[in-house]
Amino acid sequence: MFKRLISVVRHAKKYLLIIVFTLPASVWAQTTAEGAQGAVSSRSMLASQVGLDIMKQGGNAVDAAVAMGFALAVTYPSAGNLGGGGFMMLHTEAGEVLALDFRETAPGTAAENMFLDDSGSVIAGMSTETHLAAGIPGSVAGLLEALNKHGTFSREKVLAPAIKLAEEGFPLPSDIATQFSKHQDKFKKYAGSARSFIKKNKTYQAGEIWKQPDLALTLKLIAAQGRDGFYKGKVADLIVAEMEKGNGRISHNDLLSYEPVWRKPIHGTYRSFEIWGMPPPSSGGILVQQILNMLEPFVLDKSRRNQDETLHLMIEAERRAYADRAEYLGDSDFYPVPIERLIDKTYAKQRFSDFDVQKASNSDEIGPGAWPEESRETTHYSVMDAKGNAVSVTTTLNTAYGNKIVVDGAGFLLNNEMDDFSIKPGFANTYGLLGNKANAIAPNKRMLSSMSPTIVTLNGQPFLATGSPGGSTIITTTLQVLINVVDHNMTLASAVKSPRFHHQWKPNKVFYEPGALSEAQLSVLRSKNHVGIIPSPWKIGDANSVIKRKRGFISVSDPRSMGGALAY
Ligand code: GLY
Repeated sequence: MFKRLISVVRHAKKYLLIIVFTLPASVWAQTTAEGAQGAVSSRSMLASQVGLDIMKQGGNAVDAAVAMGFALAVTYPSAGNLGGGGFMMLHTEAGEVLALDFRETAPGTAAENMFLDDSGSVIAGMSTETHLAAGIPGSVAGLLEALNKHGTFSREKVLAPAIKLAEEGFPLPSDIATQFSKHQDKFKKYAGSARSFIKKNKTYQAGEIWKQPDLALTLKLIAAQGRDGFYKGKVADLIVAEMEKGNGRISHNDLLSYEPVWRKPIHGTYRSFEIWGMPPPSSGGILVQQILNMLEPFVLDKSRRNQDETLHLMIEAERRAYADRAEYLGDSDFYPVPIERLIDKTYAKQRFSDFDVQKASNSDEIGPGAWPEESRETTHYSVMDAKGNAVSVTTTLNTAYGNKIVVDGAGFLLNNEMDDFSIKPGFANTYGLLGNKANAIAPNKRMLSSMSPTIVTLNGQPFLATGSPGGSTIITTTLQVLINVVDHNMTLASAVKSPRFHHQWKPNKVFYEPGALSEAQLSVLRSKNHVGIIPSPWKIGDANSVIKRKRGFISVSDPRSMGGALAY
């Protein structure tokens, strides 16, 4: 129905506003779908439609995921991107599981103290809201690398839908129109951002056709020239010119030398399932496995769902894993991250040996900073096909709309991923996460991430592709989806919808969504000395996932936001 309505909209522009405002909400969002051939789930219905169409034309899940990655850069600009980075977990039809790192890198001239003043204090906003906040973008190189190695379609074919969406435009969904309006004061500060997001001094309204001609040109250059269309030539010149306007540090040399990296996945087991996650520079794979290892000796079956002991147990496991994250994790190409030890089941047993079933353990009472005011952006999408390919991708500009700076003339936003480094030991990043030497800034290093694209296999076959946005809550969201499916035997739709909670060691707080903790559970947790149990100011996570059941694929987009789950 969605496709039909979009086509009606395109052919009847004079009636556009009337039509759009009468479209049912289901046009912008569909939370579940089932099919035998393939399934996709993403934060954008238009991007999901692109992925589904590619598979229907004979493409595999990688072709679909790459096409969706480029489409999300057009249809979901707060996190879908060309100017950011991400991670892809891939189960190939040959049965291999692979991890592709296309995280941003620090510029070659980056320095450990680049966000500090002469007295060594952090300069507020410098690592999030300036040209200096941007790392070298990895998304274009990463998506093209995945396509070259594991796709079957040409670059031109997978980029065509994104180019069309950017060139011809699409009716702006209401949630995105609201975001544009919210950020307009920041967009007005930069010529490129104002051109993209503001129309003749007014913000775009829901339902208006939103076109992005500069972005269409950039996408066409990538389609024609591959990575050279982005990292060399006109687009590279525009990026460097944009840097010069704001003392940013991305150079031609940084762009030319950017490379995505195939890494050894984090591989572990949880009950009868195999879990495959992203290694450093993400903390996601390690923490998900570490927490699962701590939980595994306990019975968490359906009858234990939402029981006080289960909540206490999970909070305590999360507390310990996030404490390890702050100390040990960073880019393993620069720092010796003890990966094998952290995901070892014996280590988990020892780490959890002080768990007291009656009492919360003690993170410092005073956390390192307030809960972030920025919205927790990033986006996750999942794809599976009937050939045995499964793709789980999380990609980000860091906070919503990154540093809010569109490269003038090139039409895409830059990230503010430098804030994911530990910009000063003990100083919390925008998600309240602490870090140390392991995650200090260094030239060409990749900043630590929480992104946790995950593939779960059962008997060697893809079973579940999942992950989430949400900064520090990415890990706990992914974990709760896994536990809901594996332990509590929930349907994927319920597992994703179920209210969530989150603990990250410091600040020593338990954040919970409405319905996640009952009054009785709150008092039990308080009686066990858990402190700072507060309603989360944000929806926790957005876990767009696909599962393979006996009857076929089931695709679920998180009902917390307007996304698209499609299957055929
Ligand atoms: N920028 C959020 C993350 O990578 O964890």
